[in-house]
Amino acid sequence: MYSIMDNLPTIIQGGMGAGVSSWRLAQAVSQLGQLGVVSGTALDSIFARRLQDGDPGGHMGRGLDQFPIPEIAERVWSRYYIPGGKAETAPYKLLPTHSKDIPLELKELCVVANFVEVILAREGHHNPVGINYLEKVQLPHLPSIYGAMLAGVGYVLMGAGVPLKIPGVLDRFANHQPATYSLQLTGAQDDDDRAMVFVPREFVGRDLPPLVRPKFIAIIASNTLAITMLKKADGRVDGFVIEGSTAGGHNAPPRGKLQLDEAGEAIYGERDSVDLEKIRALGIPFWLAGGYGSPEKLTAALASGAAGVQVGTAFAFCRESGLRADYKQALLAKALSGDVRVFTDPVASPTNFPFKVAQLEGTLSEHEIYSARPRICDLGYLREAYRTPMGTIDYRCSAEPVTTYVSKGGKVENTAGRKCLCNALMANIGHPQTRSGKYVESGMVTSGNDLTGIARFLPPGASTYTAADVVADLITGISFRASSRQDVSQPAAAPTFCSGD
Ligand SMILES: Cc1cc2nc3c(=O)[nH]c(=O)nc-3n(C[C@H](O)[C@H](O)[C@H](O)COP(=O)(O)O)c2cc1C
Repeated sequence: MYSIMDNLPTIIQGGMGAGVSSWRLAQAVSQLGQLGVVSGTALDSIFARRLQDGDPGGHMGRGLDQFPIPEIAERVWSRYYIPGGKAETAPYKLLPTHSKDIPLELKELCVVANFVEVILAREGHHNPVGINYLEKVQLPHLPSIYGAMLAGVGYVLMGAGVPLKIPGVLDRFANHQPATYSLQLTGAQDDDDRAMVFVPREFVGRDLPPLVRPKFIAIIASNTLAITMLKKADGRVDGFVIEGSTAGGHNAPPRGKLQLDEAGEAIYGERDSVDLEKIRALGIPFWLAGGYGSPEKLTAALASGAAGVQVGTAFAFCRESGLRADYKQALLAKALSGDVRVFTDPVASPTNFPFKVAQLEGTLSEHEIYSARPRICDLGYLREAYRTPMGTIDYRCSAEPVTTYVSKGGKVENTAGRKCLCNALMANIGHPQTRSGKYVESGMVTSGNDLTGIARFLPPGASTYTAADVVADLITGISFRASSRQDVSQPAAAPTFCSGD
């Protein structure tokens, strides 16, 4: 077990995109002395939509005021802010979609949006805050990470891919040095230029003091990947989150040929479990995730040598999370009545990774709602970059209109059952796109299998619970560790672990 001298969190509140682990949730968890993690996925779109909703509460404006290059903050504000908010039936402004050479408007928005999310999550306490990215969503990586680092992010956590080159990016950005990231390109040839480049000094146009290099935690699901990360990463890896197949969001696909059970869910077996003895032997801290949201599981994780646990589902349905209140309430009510079901959909996500979907009326988990949606791809975060026959780079998504996808060389069989996660996830957090003043995008809630048990966080007689309820529940039984950190009944007290600050 790690000593408190290591200053490591016992509980990591897992990053939950898009916008479910918003600055409010991460702030609440970090205030309690554990690690709050904002989701860095699609923050540019989320930020632009918050401004178009009139910036309720003035939080985005407050974050923007702290951005170190005021002229960039001013440009972003004037591009998107609508006083009083857009009319309900008016559509949100469409942003340019991401591409290898990101347009300046989008680059500025990305840097600023990541900065603001982190700076707000850091308000009111002195503890570190983390940010989570999906490796597969590569195009926004460089400006996003730089923006988060400008705001003093303490941890960068990344999964859904093999993030070998991220540690090196963190090292370079700490000194405002240029960084590159190689785009995954289907059909790439050796001489293709796949380098995405971000040059901080060119972007900020002035000298800034060095930044803190955040700790880097890779989210993995196999021993092989742990070893690969340690051997081949181009910089320091500070820890691992070992995530099992019951976790919410995307899951690593099962090893070997994909097999489905009678219900159509991916089957995971012995080969998918991680040998924790071997992980422990690597000698760096690790946290366990996927069904670890209980005191018993936390105690078991600590006993196995883990520094703690990463928990998502329990936090996704608490008051501070960004998930729409009506979806939270409906799923909490189902959990209370024992009528809740989570389906591990093998095809819904254009990433081709199994994706967990909570079954909920009025969302894309229902066949009729899914079939009634026109296939439109206008956010594009999950697009795959591919080499065209002309040798140029183009982008396609298996959830876009089938003819378009096929005309770009995509296989028709890849399109069946695909869902537009980008639009659904924006709808989940209260920013649904409206089309022609009539069609409003529906959401689709992801959750881990632990959804069945979340009602136990409800205090007696209450219909909602808070992040503090979750943390208090989890640390029951490990009070010797908790008391060395912070009394969870005392919000925003002194820092209890430090790094990156
Ligand atoms: C609503 C939701 C969204 C999630 N989104 C992400 C994500 O964007 N990136 C990521 O690495 N993990 C994501 N996860 C996984 C969590 O970070 C965490 O590892 C997982 O939820 C832990 O398992 P549990 O759900 O059993 O607590 C998500 C989980 C949930 C419930």
